[in-house]
Amino acid sequence: MQIVILSRQAALYSTRRLVEAAQSHGHQVKVLDPLRCLVEINGRQLASSTPAAAAVIPRIGASITEFGCAVVRQFEQGGIWALNPAAGIARSRDKLLSMQLLRGRGIPMPRTAVVGRPQGLQRAIQAVGGLPVVMKLRRGTQGRGVVLVRSLAAARRAHSVLNDYQHYTLVQEFVAEARNRDIRVIVVGREAVAAMERQAAPGDFRANLHRGGSARPFRLNEGMKRLAVKAAEVHEVGFAGVDLLMTSRGPAVIEVNSSPGLQGIETTTGVDVAGAVIAFVEEQCGDPTGFEDQEADQVAAAPGVLTAVA
Ligand SMILES: Nc1ncnc2c1ncn2[C@@H]1O[C@H](COP(=O)(O)OP(=O)(O)O)[C@@H](O)[C@H]1O
Ligand SMILES: [Mg+2]
Repeated sequence: MQIVILSRQAALYSTRRLVEAAQSHGHQVKVLDPLRCLVEINGRQLASSTPAAAAVIPRIGASITEFGCAVVRQFEQGGIWALNPAAGIARSRDKLLSMQLLRGRGIPMPRTAVVGRPQGLQRAIQAVGGLPVVMKLRRGTQGRGVVLVRSLAAARRAHSVLNDYQHYTLVQEFVAEARNRDIRVIVVGREAVAAMERQAAPGDFRANLHRGGSARPFRLNEGMKRLAVKAAEVHEVGFAGVDLLMTSRGPAVIEVNSSPGLQGIETTTGVDVAGAVIAFVEEQCGDPTGFEDQEADQVAAAPGVLTAVA
């Protein structure tokens, strides 16, 4: 079948691995830079300009979430199956929305509050169990915009910086007992296919590999697998990196990433995550041989045009 990978850089490890896996499964694959796509909401010449594909694998970076989601949505409106639909990507990128959705489904998470005006900070800190607390940007990623504060004065300073961007800030219970470690679980479809424990670099509490964290393979128990799969399901994403913290009350979800990096997890665990992703795409898109006709109809029904411009 034909698979489009939406990615800004074909040379990135994750993109390369997905291309390799798709090709080794006998598929044709095209890497398309979402920023090079022109979305014509009510264009006409559909079949000729919307890239033909059975499936789209979005790898939308956090800096281009909104436009990237518009491009993914355009594929979806053309009847093309998206591994992670635009709505799912948007849910996972908004930490506040994500937490509310998880809470709504009874998924354990650290106590979290949201505060707009600085006058509300003290109440927010009390609400999550007192200092120290973690404060987060609503749309941060790779550990940026996540700070640990130990005093009200520091919380005020952090709030004034974080709030400048987004009008409100997340205040979260600091899970000290996790000892600067978290667990990254890779979910593909309804399965937790790989997991690693990440340890923050000395002097940091954020275990992100982009912040210098180190990783080792982790053996999940059934409860943790179910938790990670449910967290991905709540966001309606087919491929996710779910971050868990081991709290004294048990594992808790802190984040669902909709474009999880493959390099750290594959090199740490030896699991062929890219292969698992492509196998899931095949399973969802049905019989690849019966696809050609269906594709033409679906694209023709698209309410708009998506053109890849050089
Ligand atoms: N409430 C918390 N208690 C302890 N550590 C946390 C907490 N929240 C986040 N961390 C640490 O900070 C890292 C980054 O936080 P996260 O919410 O995943 O944001 P990002 O999107 O930047 O990865 C986590 O991987 C974890 O190591
Ligand atoms: Mg994270």
